Amino acid sequence: YGHPRERRAPRGEDATVHPMKLSVIGVGYLGAVHAATMASVGHDVVAVDSDEGRVAALASGTAPFVEPGFDGLLRQTLDSGRLHFTADYRDVAEAGLHFIAVGTPQRPDSHAADLTHVYAAVGSLLPHIRPGAVVAGKSTVPVGTASDLEGRVVGAGGVLAWNPEFLREGFAVRDTLKPDRIVYGLSADAGRAGVALARLDECYAPMLSACPRLIMDFATAELIKVAANAFLATKISFINAVSQVCDAAGADVTLLAEAIGLDERIGRRFLRAGVGFGGGCLPKDIRALQASADLHGARHLADLLGQVDSINREQRDRIVELARTHVGGDLSGRAITILGAAFKPLSDDVRDSPALDVASRLADLGAEVTVCDPQALPVVARSHPHLTLEDDPRAALKGAELVLLLTEWDQFVALDPAEAATSVAERVIIDGRNALDPVAWREAGWTYAGVGR
Ligand code: UDX
Repeated sequence: YGHPRERRAPRGEDATVHPMKLSVIGVGYLGAVHAATMASVGHDVVAVDSDEGRVAALASGTAPFVEPGFDGLLRQTLDSGRLHFTADYRDVAEAGLHFIAVGTPQRPDSHAADLTHVYAAVGSLLPHIRPGAVVAGKSTVPVGTASDLEGRVVGAGGVLAWNPEFLREGFAVRDTLKPDRIVYGLSADAGRAGVALARLDECYAPMLSACPRLIMDFATAELIKVAANAFLATKISFINAVSQVCDAAGADVTLLAEAIGLDERIGRRFLRAGVGFGGGCLPKDIRALQASADLHGARHLADLLGQVDSINREQRDRIVELARTHVGGDLSGRAITILGAAFKPLSDDVRDSPALDVASRLADLGAEVTVCDPQALPVVARSHPHLTLEDDPRAALKGAELVLLLTEWDQFVALDPAEAATSVAERVIIDGRNALDPVAWREAGWTYAGVGR
């Protein structure tokens, strides 16, 4: 088919689903959502994970994480009989298309991504695939991984493709059903590329009528994912760096972001200054791309991403310092309430969460910290047993000498400043997400401090 660089699915293409047998290896945020979504559009899906507890929970219809819309989708697809969870790789033998959706966390000893789970998943899968089966990697991997894996897959009679996933937590179901784009990284071998292309098109038929499908080589497909996340991280760190000059010069970064964002070339999104980005993707993906850039001698990219990361980490220092200043210099014994623990609203994910990081640092500096979050407290109770947890915001505010808003859940943004004032010991609030109306809070007698405003 000539390996075109870019192709758009023909308009009006038949979007009827021809049910296929699929497998999904790894049932974290990405894999579990992908498996349930593919079953919901009509495919027969077997999802495998070596974590038997997780498999059992999912098989019984219990989502192991908070993701809007996922619980209903899980139960519905389990009931339909089109979704199965297993810890036994032999159960995937009939599938014609296998998705690798295991995690690639940061390595403990460097910035690079840890590929242990990817190689283990592929190693466990290959003895069970049928001839001509397509193995599509969805995990975020360093450039070069697919070409390294291709020989093994071909040796087992399969065909490899790379098919990165761009879903956001909190919108994972929606993003999987209505993606902005679908990317296929295909083999340099035209025969294998043709097999993978046809199989992926068959799987994604319901989505392809409504979104562009881009076809490319393995390396480009691998880089697209990390480049997208690096760009988003750069936008956030850019506005956070600008917020420093706004603070120094008495300007307002929220108005500045709104004004520059009205230029379509810039865009308004991902320009919210504050305590910075966290989560299971952006921080580790910029570091993994930095490691790849270093490896390939792309010095400017490595330097740029190093700056993006250090600006982001400094935002947390800024908030801790702001807290110290607002309690008069000594944090020990001071009652501080942190609104937010998840790395962003609509999630219970606390991986590299700025809110939780600031909370534990303030606790380490001697403050009596109470953390409030509508969803993440069960996770925090396991990871940070020394913090006091309170799920009711009004109870959490009781007696506080300082309040920090660090995850902009709707219920926190909607707090009535006059009512909140009656609970606290001191009316001082640090808005680490620039999500509150400073005028309303000041009118209710609060000392309000945002980030760069
Ligand atoms: C991200 C990408 O958006 C997604 O496309 C990719 O597939 C996975 O990584 P996610 O980790 O779910 O998704 O979170 P995202 O919505 O990108 O937010 C990341 C972090 O940036 C959060 O901590 C958020 O609070 C922060 N953020 C976001 C800001 O600090 N300012 C902003 O303007 C936007």
